[in-house]
Amino acid sequence: MLNQRIPTPRGPAAPVSPILITGCSTGIGRATAHRLVHDGHFVYATARTPEAVKELRGATCRTLRLDLTDEASMRAAVEVVEQEHGRIGTLVNNAGYAEIGPAELLTTERLRLQFETNVFGTWRLCQLALPAMRAAGTGRIVNVGSIGDSCTLPLWGAYTASKHALKALNDTLRMELAPYGITTVLVEPGLIDTHFAAAIDQNITRHGTDGPHPAYDAQMRGFGAVLGDVLSRGATSARLRATLLQRITQKPDAVARTIATAATAPRPHPHYRVPLHARLAIAAHHALPARSWDALTRLLFLGRAGAAAPPRGAPLAGAPARRVPGGER
Ligand SMILES: NC(=O)c1ccc[n+]([C@@H]2O[C@H](COP(=O)([O-])OP(=O)(O)OC[C@H]3O[C@@H](n4cnc5c(N)ncnc54)[C@H](OP(=O)(O)O)[C@@H]3O)[C@@H](O)[C@H]2O)c1
Repeated sequence: MLNQRIPTPRGPAAPVSPILITGCSTGIGRATAHRLVHDGHFVYATARTPEAVKELRGATCRTLRLDLTDEASMRAAVEVVEQEHGRIGTLVNNAGYAEIGPAELLTTERLRLQFETNVFGTWRLCQLALPAMRAAGTGRIVNVGSIGDSCTLPLWGAYTASKHALKALNDTLRMELAPYGITTVLVEPGLIDTHFAAAIDQNITRHGTDGPHPAYDAQMRGFGAVLGDVLSRGATSARLRATLLQRITQKPDAVARTIATAATAPRPHPHYRVPLHARLAIAAHHALPARSWDALTRLLFLGRAGAAAPPRGAPLAGAPARRVPGGER
């Protein structure tokens, strides 16, 4: 893990092409801000809560408030960069989170929230940044997707649908913007040790994994155990799986290094998959027949519940109402 304090920059003191990164309060965004400042770039590290990024501030790092569900905050952040540097040189769309739950049961409100951040907010931010990039005839957009934009997992429908949509946005931008000198790059991380899993864990805990949804209880509990393995939460019935997951999970700097390459290389690849297990998972998804892929991912992500036949006619109707704060059924 990189130091919490910003190290002395190595490169030029006043780069002409600033890099704006979303979601720098934790994880990949924070590691990327550290890395790019360290490499000598001028960075705008943004977060929903400015307090969360205050220790990133330095001679070549400014912090700004930016919430992807708040148009005014996005406009204000883009305006600040354009007033100070003329345009955003590179926009790194990193912020995102995962909504987990059975597709049958996720409320429309929670689905909308998922897309509001991972897709609509990111899309809007591109729209706000692009006019100045086009006018300058140069610029770059780096989108942080996921292996989930190529493979879909059980209970991850909302998140993977949002990342599939982000990948579609990425690919259309790449084609539409090339004539204007703007490069678009997709970085697809695999399992990375950040707040991401803990946020999912809180999400599941908040909505409850047993009781209200008998039809999906076993799957949710199975997934909870997998998450426990990722989070090293202790007792597990599947030591092999826990060891495997913990071994392949990488630190956020592994992705930060790749994002730095995607953001600054003169001729970046259109896609980067990081680390190795992300490349292998996507290759396996393409190579395996759908039934084999399904069986493998159900076993890995749901444990025994993934292998078991679902109970017939489990009583969804009439089950106690699921409590979602301010949500709908
Ligand atoms: N970790 C993984 O295994 C993994 C794998 C594949 C892809 N990814 C992707 O990598 C990206 C970074 O995730 P991470 O792993 O670094 O997770 P993380 O540590 O949870 O960081 C997510 C960041 O996104 C921010 N964010 C969430 N909603 C936002 C909103 N509405 N507006 C602005 N910022 C918002 C969070 O801010 P707050 O602190 O304010 O919540 C946080 O800074 C995400 O797009 C994620 O989908 C992660």
